[in-house]
Amino acid sequence: MENTTPAKKQIVFSAIQPSGSITLGNYLGAVKNWVKMQDNPEYNCIYALADLHTITVRQDPAQFRKNIIDMYASIMACGIDVEKAPFFIQSHNPDHAVMAWILDCYTQFGELSRMTQFKDKSAKHADNINAGLFTYPSLMAGDILLYQADKVPVGSDQMQHLELTRDIANRFNGIYGNVFKIPEGFIPKDGARVMSLQNPTAKMSKSDENANSFILLSDDDNVIMKKFKRAITDSEAKVRYAEGKDGINNLMSIYSAVTGLSYEQIEHDFDGKGYGDFKTAVGEAVVAELSPIRKRYQEYVSDKKYIEECYTKSVEFVQRFSHRTVEKAMKKIGYILPKH
Ligand code: TRP
Repeated sequence: MENTTPAKKQIVFSAIQPSGSITLGNYLGAVKNWVKMQDNPEYNCIYALADLHTITVRQDPAQFRKNIIDMYASIMACGIDVEKAPFFIQSHNPDHAVMAWILDCYTQFGELSRMTQFKDKSAKHADNINAGLFTYPSLMAGDILLYQADKVPVGSDQMQHLELTRDIANRFNGIYGNVFKIPEGFIPKDGARVMSLQNPTAKMSKSDENANSFILLSDDDNVIMKKFKRAITDSEAKVRYAEGKDGINNLMSIYSAVTGLSYEQIEHDFDGKGYGDFKTAVGEAVVAELSPIRKRYQEYVSDKKYIEECYTKSVEFVQRFSHRTVEKAMKKIGYILPKH
């Protein structure tokens, strides 16, 4: 792999959970940016499918297995090239579990208790508030610190975990010297925060009861067009970005993320035109972006061998780096390591 070039390059790490099929929101908010960073010569990117995180909520085994493969294939189909950026499955690298345990012992109960996601998820799954759900942020901290990452693109809901990662790393370094790089979390600027097409004040989510509110990567062209035509707008009938026009703002943000056009340009292009024309244009732009991805996805899921090759190569590559960090941390703590 090409990832061995000058140390000057910044290390980027990010991960996503295998929650099933990916939505236009996941794509525009995260994965499209992963591809962009992978192609930027300033960065060495490492990406993971965070399947260890996923069992903090109970999973059906057959469905879970399918979700992992589907999600891996979909993200590859979005344009990840493992020759440029390894994309591995977290559970394939046991260093993550080891590092999570170590970091658990340097993370305070009080800190974990303050995590908003823990509070939300324990309210939502009141019958299964397990220890993993509580210590999830130290597993995530380990993911990042193992690779000495400089930069971590995340969604806004993960920024609190990033702050905690920095606190844990600083605490550990404070005791033992410079073991971990202090990572910087950031929310990609041009990554759109895609909202529901039916209720544009809520984030687009595939768990929404109304299937018209979200676009899946697997939706075919007609379904995509239909969903955009039914998207909620407002009664002003003017394509402009403004407060209170959540539906139109969302469509403009999607259109801009896909075409690269600025809001100003979009307003200019659709001056005097109705919402019908605009929705058709947004739908067509999204179809043009997603249909080649969908075709690639279909090729990948029917070519299991290729997918296996990609995740195996990736984990072999990243383990060289994660081992180094685990051993360094263990030595500092006082552990004795086996000879090899
Ligand atoms: N917790 C993240 C989420 O649910 C996924 C994740 C796991 C992650 N480990 C990570 C993101 C490390 C960034 C870096 O979205």
